Amino acid sequence: MKRGGASAEVVAAVTLLAALTFAAGLAAVGFYVGRETKSSSPATAPSTTSTAVATVDPQIAAGAHDFVNFACAQCHGLDGRGGVSPDVPALKAAAQLTSAQLRGIIDHGLGVSANPSKPFMPVWGTVISARQVDDLVAYIRAGLPTVPDAVPVVIPQGQGPEVAGAALYVKYGCVNCHGPNGLGGVPNPQSADKTIPPLSGADFFKQFNTDKKIIDFIRTGSVLGKQPITSMPHWGGIISDPDLQALVAYIKTLKTT
Ligand code: HEC
Ligand code: HEC
Repeated sequence: MKRGGASAEVVAAVTLLAALTFAAGLAAVGFYVGRETKSSSPATAPSTTSTAVATVDPQIAAGAHDFVNFACAQCHGLDGRGGVSPDVPALKAAAQLTSAQLRGIIDHGLGVSANPSKPFMPVWGTVISARQVDDLVAYIRAGLPTVPDAVPVVIPQGQGPEVAGAALYVKYGCVNCHGPNGLGGVPNPQSADKTIPPLSGADFFKQFNTDKKIIDFIRTGSVLGKQPITSMPHWGGIISDPDLQALVAYIKTLKTT
């Protein structure tokens, strides 16, 4: 009867587990519908509640994270508050623009700047998906609210320029256009090369054989032509000199062949 006893124990355990799960479920439901739950002990409160119910509109949240991931925040300020450069506007007023206007600005940019030391609004249509642009538009039209965790990556301090540069490569969204590890391959169909160039490999390091050449290019970007061609943004006045040096230190760790 040992086997029978064992399975009876299993059944009892399963029943108990089911009861506990049900109770926890009830507690969770009570928690979310805002009923009086003071009586339930904290021990029965679910530990991972954030995945169950969204408290931020998912489209606005997605837009807020895109705003950080595509480095909009690095030019327009966190939550579009401005203050980064006198040449880049804050975006609170842009909430008044129509969805079509905003979509047009994000997809096509606002024209390349004639002054290579000044930033311009880049063309994003080849890089950012239509769905992501919709999310960005929803976020901007909602007034660019603060969304939890929609913050740029932390830049490690005191660990050398290569480590800082690798994080800056993500923070400034270089990775979106030049690919992970600077491998390139992001399509830019209307450009002569058809793709955004890699920041690695023999050709790259042959042309960019000094720190100064790399830094000058990041600062002044390129003027490739009109939209829908994506051009290298002008980062002059946006990225500080020490950060430019750290970016170069990182780029020089990438594949040279
Ligand atoms: C390299 C810096 C830079 C980055 C990155 C950047 N912008 Fe801009 N953006 C600008 C500049 C400069 C202008 C002003 C252009 C002008 O008026 O000619 C601008 C203008 C705009 C405007 C129009 C504002 C208005 O009031 O007319 C919107 C909207 C906008 N940007 C959204 C975005 C979004 C969304 C992203 C990220 C996908 C982004 N920007 C990334 C530099 C940048
Ligand atoms: C919106 C897309 C985009 C972003 C973001 C971007 N780049 Fe570029 N980058 C380009 C394009 C397009 C070119 C090619 C320009 C040309 O050929 O004139 C380029 C060229 C370069 C080059 C010269 C490479 C070559 O072979 O001509 C360097 C260096 C560079 N980018 C570094 C960076 C760094 C560092 C960042 C982040 C701070 C960055 N880029 C962000 C699109 C981008």
